[in-house]
Amino acid sequence: MKIRQRFFGQSIVSIEQFTKDDLETVFELATFYKQGQRFSSRFTDLAGKIMAALFYEPSSRTLASFISAMQYLGGGIIPLNGMTYTSVAKGETLTDTIRVFQNYADIIVIRHPEKGAAKIASDYAKVPIINAGDGTGEHPTQALLDIYTIKERLGRIDNLKIAMVGDLKYGRTVHSLAKALSCYSGISIYLISPNTSPMPPEVVAKITRLGVKTKQRQSIEEIIDDVDVLYMTRVQKERMRPDIYEKIKNLFKLDNKLANKMKKEAIIMHPLPRVGEITWDVDQNPRAMYLRYQMKNGLFIRMALLKLILTK
Ligand code: NCD
Repeated sequence: MKIRQRFFGQSIVSIEQFTKDDLETVFELATFYKQGQRFSSRFTDLAGKIMAALFYEPSSRTLASFISAMQYLGGGIIPLNGMTYTSVAKGETLTDTIRVFQNYADIIVIRHPEKGAAKIASDYAKVPIINAGDGTGEHPTQALLDIYTIKERLGRIDNLKIAMVGDLKYGRTVHSLAKALSCYSGISIYLISPNTSPMPPEVVAKITRLGVKTKQRQSIEEIIDDVDVLYMTRVQKERMRPDIYEKIKNLFKLDNKLANKMKKEAIIMHPLPRVGEITWDVDQNPRAMYLRYQMKNGLFIRMALLKLILTK
């Protein structure tokens, strides 16, 4: 079901819940918080509320920015990075774990290795659930911060040409990003991946129906001077056989020589972590967004989302 501005009490399991207006609502509030932070405002919007973060998979940015977001808004946190020392280690099921933490928190942010886990959690929970990554499924809050960053840096989303490069099969960020882009018009996506890791056909079918044009390409070189956004991703080592990983891990690499062939105003993005697909010399390139705007914007986007879901 679409949110249609009814954020209060909503679980966020997929980016497909957002209309274009819903995206804009999040972006507007994120910008408000971003400006507030620049003037070191102190916010108390979520004073008295508690967020549990249950992360069954590793995380740096997503976990830290959710924790930071909650605290910047005056709320409290139960931050669990790895469930090893919880009852999960004793065999407790996901649904039981959710039933536990909803007693102690007003909202639960969950990252889990299984696709569909956030949806299951939301079916059982009495409090809103936010999907912070469900296996090879989706990562909706990453898509929010990605689209926000594109809009902020390029001034528009419509008529965008974007290349998604890397493990498009197992990488969840590109699934959510591709679907989020389908809210806008005139979008073209170049898909560049190893043959063993193509964008899932159901994602391609869905966004094609909504008017997005997709084209497969074999190399970054073919599209480098054509795109507005080059979205690099890592090969998801933990989600494939080791022999396949060894074969494909170095197929696509961006170095600064290649990056400099991009249009002057084009941008380079990456959800991070990178494991060699963007060489360090690219970091100084003015087009590189990943270590600056993209990461920082994740904080403001998550502040906005928490505020919208937790207050009327
Ligand atoms: C991504 C994830 O967890 O899906 N990381 C992130 O949240 N920025 C990307 C990845 O792990 O490759």
